[in-house]
Amino acid sequence: MKFDTITVQGGMNPGDNRACISPPIYQNTAFYFKDLDFAADLFDLKTAGDIYTRISNPTTNMLEERVAALEGGVGAVAVSSGMSATLAAVLNLTNAGNEVVASASVYGGTFNLLNSTLPKYGVVTKFVNSDKIEDYEKQINEKTRCIYAETVGNPTLDVCDIEGLANLAHKYSIPLIIDNTVPSPYLCRPFEHGADIIVHALTKYISGHGNSMGGIIIDSGKFDWEKSGKFPDLTKKDQSYHGLSYTETFKEAAYITRIRTAYLRDLGCCLSPFNAYLTLVGLETLHLRMERHSESALKVAKWLQNSEFVKWVSYPLLESSKYYNNAKKYLPKGASSIVAFGLKGDRKNLEKFVSSLKLFIHATNIGDSRSIITCPSLTTHRQLSDEELEKAGIGIEFIRLSVGLEDTDDLIADLEQAFQKSV
Ligand SMILES: Cc1ncc(COP(=O)(O)O)c(C=O)c1O
Repeated sequence: MKFDTITVQGGMNPGDNRACISPPIYQNTAFYFKDLDFAADLFDLKTAGDIYTRISNPTTNMLEERVAALEGGVGAVAVSSGMSATLAAVLNLTNAGNEVVASASVYGGTFNLLNSTLPKYGVVTKFVNSDKIEDYEKQINEKTRCIYAETVGNPTLDVCDIEGLANLAHKYSIPLIIDNTVPSPYLCRPFEHGADIIVHALTKYISGHGNSMGGIIIDSGKFDWEKSGKFPDLTKKDQSYHGLSYTETFKEAAYITRIRTAYLRDLGCCLSPFNAYLTLVGLETLHLRMERHSESALKVAKWLQNSEFVKWVSYPLLESSKYYNNAKKYLPKGASSIVAFGLKGDRKNLEKFVSSLKLFIHATNIGDSRSIITCPSLTTHRQLSDEELEKAGIGIEFIRLSVGLEDTDDLIADLEQAFQKSV
């Protein structure tokens, strides 16, 4: 099936599910065991099947199959939020004493997780404030267990060199994790460029309507855990499953199976079946929405470039962008909905501008069908120190727009009238 067909029908067979043709919501907690042996085999991972919704659920499985197919992976596990996806993806590769090498421009929540929370448990991240592959390489040592980056950094809009990072990771026998939230698989498929694991905040473009939290981890199935020798949790016997080895039993699906059986089991960060349903329904129009988001965002970015109220504009597919070449390579169909710009003036002008907007909603989200305006230094990146904000290039004048699906003439008129009132 081609991409657009999978967005609409992937993971669902109209002959199953009592002939329902749209995804049914299996809003139940537990599943029936037909006999004792069957129950024991399910718990020993000798047979596949649903036990309890914390670990798997048929509605959620439809979503997992659909997103795995869209990214071209061997399997996926859906979780309760984008942050849970990042947490589980990293925990599945690390133990106390291990390190992560990550781009310094990752989403603020991810930065906090890696910079503040995980170090308390002995997993330390070395951040790289540069696009140069050699600067990433300088941070890698024998303790490093993965490289972590976003296809398009939120909100700085740097487009990472996935292929360069993948080659570097593989040189050191470690995997590359890519947060592909901003492009969604419609605009970029990181596995085609060598990434090993993908995470998404389903909350954003995949569900697409600002009504459902969720996250997902997808495994390419291509990383050779045995050959690497750095991941005993995947290759050696797991005593919590009677000595089973994930790579021996689940082969190329070892990594993703352990996310479910160890981390959904122990952390409990499952997606609710109702949210899986909302995400499946939103996903049906992903291809149409991403085209429109990208077309409108480029139009707004070009218009902002000519505005006298604006200091600078950043959008990966503007020729003025430092990331234009990477964007052409990795985002040939469009660069998604986020446009960043610097407003001239000070905090007072910023306040007048934001409070004068009528269509752009002042909130913190991206990938919603509605247009949203955010001031990251006061919100999403509030926990960063002044020095960290400066390193990430996020000053008080930094404005992030997520351009929605409204008519662009109306959106531009809204920005213009608010600019006029900002001075
Ligand atoms: C790129 C990116 N990754 C991950 C997340 C976290 O997702 P969630 O809010 O669903 O936890 C966000 C949230 O804004 C994000 O923008």
